[in-house]
Amino acid sequence: MSVVIPTYNEARVIYQRLDNIAEQDYPRDRLEMIVVDGGSTDGTTDLVKKWIGEHGDVKVKVIEEGGRFGKAHALNTALRYAVGDVVVIADADSMWTRDSLRNAVRWLMIDGVGAVSCNKLPKDDVAIEGEYRSYYGALRIAESRKYSSPIFHGELAAYRKDLLLKIGGFPERIGADDSHTASLIALMGYRAIIPEDVRCIESVPRRGYWSWRLRRAQHLVQHFVSIAGLIIGNTRIPRDYMPVLLTETYLHIVNPWLLLIGLALILPAVLHGMLIPTALLVLGAILLITSKFFRTWVTTQAILVAAAIRNLWNKELVWRKEEKD
Ligand code: GDD
Ligand code: MN
Repeated sequence: MSVVIPTYNEARVIYQRLDNIAEQDYPRDRLEMIVVDGGSTDGTTDLVKKWIGEHGDVKVKVIEEGGRFGKAHALNTALRYAVGDVVVIADADSMWTRDSLRNAVRWLMIDGVGAVSCNKLPKDDVAIEGEYRSYYGALRIAESRKYSSPIFHGELAAYRKDLLLKIGGFPERIGADDSHTASLIALMGYRAIIPEDVRCIESVPRRGYWSWRLRRAQHLVQHFVSIAGLIIGNTRIPRDYMPVLLTETYLHIVNPWLLLIGLALILPAVLHGMLIPTALLVLGAILLITSKFFRTWVTTQAILVAAAIRNLWNKELVWRKEEKD
């Protein structure tokens, strides 16, 4: 098994992240770590080398790309050095619970499963993050039971290497490297799942939370636009995957605009003093104030609209590093 840790300026967390992976409930002699660094300027690779010096019993390869070429590019570089039959992506700024790796591999060994990812547990409940994760997390598990989750998380994303190679590695022109690879594998007929017992803890930036959400939404929109293209005219989509793909593609690229269109239709009617539109608008306002669930949903739609628009001039394929606690 090859655990790939892409890093760009992760000096704050890399040392404990390597500890976290080495301390997994998984035999060390069956695991290699590959740190692939994209030109960090904060001493990340020095810390990695220090860690290696102190842990002679763990196999670690360090690849320095010498410049910043994006996460997907780094993963593809690492893929060339990986000797494992299983490749696991492990973002530096997250942590796994101790049984995550073992559970992920156990699922991956099941016939017909091609990729496994984790449930994200936000470390801090910043803004709407906790609420957002709670129901989007439940959706990912439900979709996985049906067939596959079209959304994956680079905090822990495990793939059969032969399948990764078959789809040509990680996409460098779509931001959501994790989700896109999972979906391509699922379209080939292998399940890409997020089971309940694979968990990762994610730090959430307090400053820059909204731009962080916007960038991630941009990546998801890129992913689903590309998926929409693949659905059209494809007659060989696994039967149980079809409803999942159609629903999520709709939810990410069509549904957000309905909110805007709805408002545009309702506002003139309200200005004319019409009763039902006014009542609807008031109801919406009350829900926004009283229900965090509704607020989270509406905010998420607004982020997706902004993301689709921003994608027109900046795809954020190489992104700013946010400070997290
Ligand atoms: N080598 C290299 N080069 N590593 C990079 C680069 C790069 O240019 N850019 C980011 N990384 C590393 C980071 O150091 C981190 O370990 C990991 O890639 C993810 O980067 P984050 O900055 O933490 O991104 P995120 O958590 O907000 O992004 C989320 O969405 C991405 C796609 O939209 C995660 O789910 C990512 O896994 C996912 O790729
Ligand atoms: Mn991250």
